[in-house]
Amino acid sequence: MFSEEIIQKIKEENDIVDIVSEVVTLKKTGKNYLGRCPFHNEKTPSFTVSSEKQIYKCFGCGEAGNVISFVMKTRNMAFPEAVKLLGEKVGIVVDDADSPGKSSAANEKFKRMYNINIQAARYFYTNLKRFKAPYEYLKGRGITDETIKKFGIGFALDNWQGIRSYLKQRGFSEEEILELGLTTKNEKGNIYDRFRNRIIFPVFNVSGRVIGFGGRVLDDSKPKYLNSPETPIFHKGTNLYGLNLAIKNNPARTVIMVEGYMDVISLSQQGVTNVVATLGTALTEGQCKLLKRYIDTVIVSFDSDVAGENATIRGLEILQKSGFDLKILQIPSGKDPDEFIRSFGKEKFLNLVDGALPIIDFKLRMAEKGIDFSKQEMVIKYLKRVVNVLKDLDPLEKAVYIKQVSEKSGIGEEAIMESLDKNPNKSIQNNKNHNINRKFGQKLYLEPGFVRAERTVLSLALDKRLSDKIFSNVSEDDLILKAHKVIYTIIKENNMCSKEELIKIINLQTMQDSEFTKEWIKIQEYKVDIDEGSIDKMVSDCVNNIKKYKLEESRKKIMDKIRKCESEGLVEETLMLARELMDIQKEMGKL
Ligand code: GTP
Ligand code: MN
Repeated sequence: MFSEEIIQKIKEENDIVDIVSEVVTLKKTGKNYLGRCPFHNEKTPSFTVSSEKQIYKCFGCGEAGNVISFVMKTRNMAFPEAVKLLGEKVGIVVDDADSPGKSSAANEKFKRMYNINIQAARYFYTNLKRFKAPYEYLKGRGITDETIKKFGIGFALDNWQGIRSYLKQRGFSEEEILELGLTTKNEKGNIYDRFRNRIIFPVFNVSGRVIGFGGRVLDDSKPKYLNSPETPIFHKGTNLYGLNLAIKNNPARTVIMVEGYMDVISLSQQGVTNVVATLGTALTEGQCKLLKRYIDTVIVSFDSDVAGENATIRGLEILQKSGFDLKILQIPSGKDPDEFIRSFGKEKFLNLVDGALPIIDFKLRMAEKGIDFSKQEMVIKYLKRVVNVLKDLDPLEKAVYIKQVSEKSGIGEEAIMESLDKNPNKSIQNNKNHNINRKFGQKLYLEPGFVRAERTVLSLALDKRLSDKIFSNVSEDDLILKAHKVIYTIIKENNMCSKEELIKIINLQTMQDSEFTKEWIKIQEYKVDIDEGSIDKMVSDCVNNIKKYKLEESRKKIMDKIRKCESEGLVEETLMLARELMDIQKEMGKL
């Protein structure tokens, strides 16, 4: 696809420290750089970048890679996209040798789309100044000229053929304009402007390109807002309004998440610039993923009336699952952030932000809703809600909150604790490779034994003196990780090459897949103490270790099946499974 030289050049000219620094704040420590890992949530840095080796590794979650795989992972890009982006950064033009026509035609199409949107935004912006009503409307809401300019706010005329004829005159086709949703087609096939007589808010993506528009009526008519539809460049589920501005000068990596365009704009005008809004839809995982690249803490702002609604709770859960530090900001007196800051000023608003509740406190407060603590059955209902809120916390946090709940409800701490023990912590089970208790120190990624065993096998296979011994004892089918199977096969197939050549070949064949790259880097970094005398034992230990893991996995599966059959009263099946289980245990005993 790309030539080897080009990729090499792009890797050389993009220093990994620079590229990582775009996302992670790095500090120099000795030879390496250290920062907080962008791939998992951590308070203490365990993400290291080696300028010398041009690789990164995280001791907290086990991630590893090079400059290309870093871009692939953090920007959610495929290999060619990442290479192109890195190429652009250093002025190297890369073309898809495989399908040059196709890719440049597609590029051309996207370029035109952005261009149409820029032209449209300019057109709307110019209109605003020419017409009294929309301009007065914004002035009436306290919006300054400077803000209008900063957010590119515009106006769509009360005209069915405004933007349509404007863009057509500039040489854009009917289809292009339609595809971007600036016009729309009715059943009769007539095409006309989508936005008419509306204030226009251009929507920017994170790099500041206009990807779509939102339009607001000037009065109370419905619908209040109209947005561009999904288009090839406008994806509501993976963009956030205001993000391009919110990530500038934001060393605290914190945003306030609000609901409306006008909230973002109004807060920004008052100097609160780290604000984003969902685009009139429920928050999605895609939006969280995007946000996670730049932000650690999200302060979710709710107009007082909606807190506790299902969509809101769901949004919080998604944010939490994505690993943000979460706080809840409730705006009092039935106002939204825009109304609040205009009535009470920036200081009062910032006080609210300071007083934002950590998510657990917020949920506990929600659990009190409608509870009359003088009634027994109500207290029970409350405690049931509380158990749901607290069950996934670590023991220290649990202890703190249980005390609080106990004081509130008059129920002893021990009883609450017992109730919690019956609802085991899910996250511990999901994260079995992590030392989960972050309060007791650094999370450390513990790699399963079989992974280390496989790495040993691969390291030995790379050693020319030992490779034959490995090849005759281990087949790629014995290995579990896909990346290891692939790398092992390459090593075997290129047995005749020198070690240097072999490394080059593996580099090339693993680079398109960030998982393969990660494993390959780890194998190269892996130090095996080779004692020539006991090499046979070392190999058989590794093979046994891998076998043991496989047997253990099947044992677990069978145990699950047995439990299921037992609960359904399937006696014969249970007996058969029990026999299988014994066979496995016998096998395990032999190892
Ligand atoms: P103002 O009334 O101008 O202050 O707007 P707002 O931003 O405060 O709006 P509101 O709180 O009513 O709604 C929040 C967000 O939901 C808006 O910014 C829009 O993105 C979206 N929204 C509101 N009403 C509609 C609607 O009728 N249709 C669509 N598609 N989205 C809407
Ligand atoms: Mn509002």
